[in-house]
Amino acid sequence: MLTSIGLTALLTLLAAASPLRVRTPYAVRESHLQGNFNELERHLYQVSNPSHEQYGQHLSTHEVNALVKPMDEALDLVHSWVEDNGIKTSNCEYSPAKDWIKLSPPINAIENLLSTEYSVFQYSEGGNTNPAIATACNAALVTPLCLRALYGTVKYTVQSTNTNKIALNDFLGESNNRSDTKIFLQKYRPDAVSGVDTFKVEIIAGRKDEQTQDTAAELAAGKDTEGNLDSETLISMAYPIPLIPYRTGGHQPFTPDFLPHVISTSYADDEQTVPLSYALSVCSSFAQLGARGVSLFSGSGDFGVGPPGDCLANDEYHASTFLARFPTSCPYITSVGATKFIPEIVATDGKNKFASGGGVGKQILGLYNPSGRAYPDLAAQGYHYSTIWNGTLLPLDGTSASTPTAAAIFSLVNDDLIAKGKPPMGFLNPWLYSVGYKGFMDVVHGSAVGCGTHGFPAKKGRDAVTGFGTPWFPSIGELAANASAIVLKR
Ligand SMILES: *[C@@H]1O[C@H](CO)[C@@H](O)[C@H](O)[C@H]1NC(C)=O
Ligand SMILES: *[C@@H]1O[C@H](CO)[C@@H](O)[C@H](O)[C@H]1NC(C)=O
Ligand SMILES: *[C@@H]1O[C@H](CO)[C@@H](O)[C@H](O)[C@H]1NC(C)=O
Repeated sequence: MLTSIGLTALLTLLAAASPLRVRTPYAVRESHLQGNFNELERHLYQVSNPSHEQYGQHLSTHEVNALVKPMDEALDLVHSWVEDNGIKTSNCEYSPAKDWIKLSPPINAIENLLSTEYSVFQYSEGGNTNPAIATACNAALVTPLCLRALYGTVKYTVQSTNTNKIALNDFLGESNNRSDTKIFLQKYRPDAVSGVDTFKVEIIAGRKDEQTQDTAAELAAGKDTEGNLDSETLISMAYPIPLIPYRTGGHQPFTPDFLPHVISTSYADDEQTVPLSYALSVCSSFAQLGARGVSLFSGSGDFGVGPPGDCLANDEYHASTFLARFPTSCPYITSVGATKFIPEIVATDGKNKFASGGGVGKQILGLYNPSGRAYPDLAAQGYHYSTIWNGTLLPLDGTSASTPTAAAIFSLVNDDLIAKGKPPMGFLNPWLYSVGYKGFMDVVHGSAVGCGTHGFPAKKGRDAVTGFGTPWFPSIGELAANASAIVLKR
């Protein structure tokens, strides 16, 4: 357990172009201390599997903490390792289960400790634009009405806004501009405009609620295109389910007062650039959320099986390889690919080299699932997708669009379950793979092109570019309600 301490995690989060200039104390987290992960995973699959008698009986925070609490010996060893390296542990902060420890040594102490240098990197994914603008579903622009009609949510009336919530993650300096989101809703979903005044931002780790005009440099970098895409999609699809943007700077521990039932994350890295110990810690934390009844959605990536010319292993042999994405390769996440057109095919765009991501996780292989974690699990529209940014229309391509679409649809499913007195879906995959897949519209054309190959093709049934296909809400709602009805009968 202790051989894979997670300090190297920072390297991934900060790796890159310009070295950190400020020598202020920087938080570092010890991770991968989780005590009884196998037991947690066993509970996770029981509460998430519709044919198990515990289905829907999600664990409390207290129960999860008790399962993942590390042994005292493990904590002692970590403390002495850190102190042996000249870093005081007297100011350590701990997560409630003590499975994460936060230290704040000066950055140069960490650099010495790890014989490395830290840098800051800039997120560059998700800003694909296409100037083609039209208004209808079957033309060049995907609108909320088109999505709601296509996936069958238009006629659904939300009922459970007191207890049901949906959240999105803002990382890497992204915010959700209320002014842009309002213009978007006025244009595409006028009855949902009040959703823009009521979403309540949770500030985490030193971010601010940035609602001022972006600077010229921020505009040039496309700041908030990702953030706006998320808030505009989630409100226009799931209104009036309350939305919480988690606006996170840095990466400190965070304990929310309550958990949303669905969390949408449109951010990813090449899996091979994420240190294994860090990937495992994060992935097993996702299992904790699943056990507590949270459905996590993450995009399958925007480069098919990998960007052409870039598909080499980052070890000393540089063998040709497809490049899997993380966190979508974690088996406790529901991975979302992108489609285009109607009838739907795999989304690709020759103009900006976008190709919906597909693949098989490598790192997790052998550690969680010996046959590899193939992704995505499902798909939704993610091409010429309408957003408003800096006051005007900006169509985007990406699994960054399909991910909040799918998340919003499952938030509506939870809304109905809650109204019927049933538990929310929680970790979706066991349900999806045993019964839920029947509620999806199969996508059979196109491919996760990349690495100079045709990549994984869409085909009949499940495939590694669109999963089981795109959601048909009326059937999914019925399948979900029936799955938990079986439990109530026992
Ligand atoms: C963000 O919101 C503010 C105030 O609502 C607005 O003035 C600004 O133009 C918006 N957009 C950007 C890209 O900053
Ligand atoms: C952003 O909006 C401002 C104010 O309308 C405008 O002057 C500027 O050209 C816009 N910039 C971009 C990159 O769209
Ligand atoms: C749900 O259960 C009802 C009643 O048993 C059944 O008629 C219906 O076909 C089921 N729906 C699905 C989608 O399986």
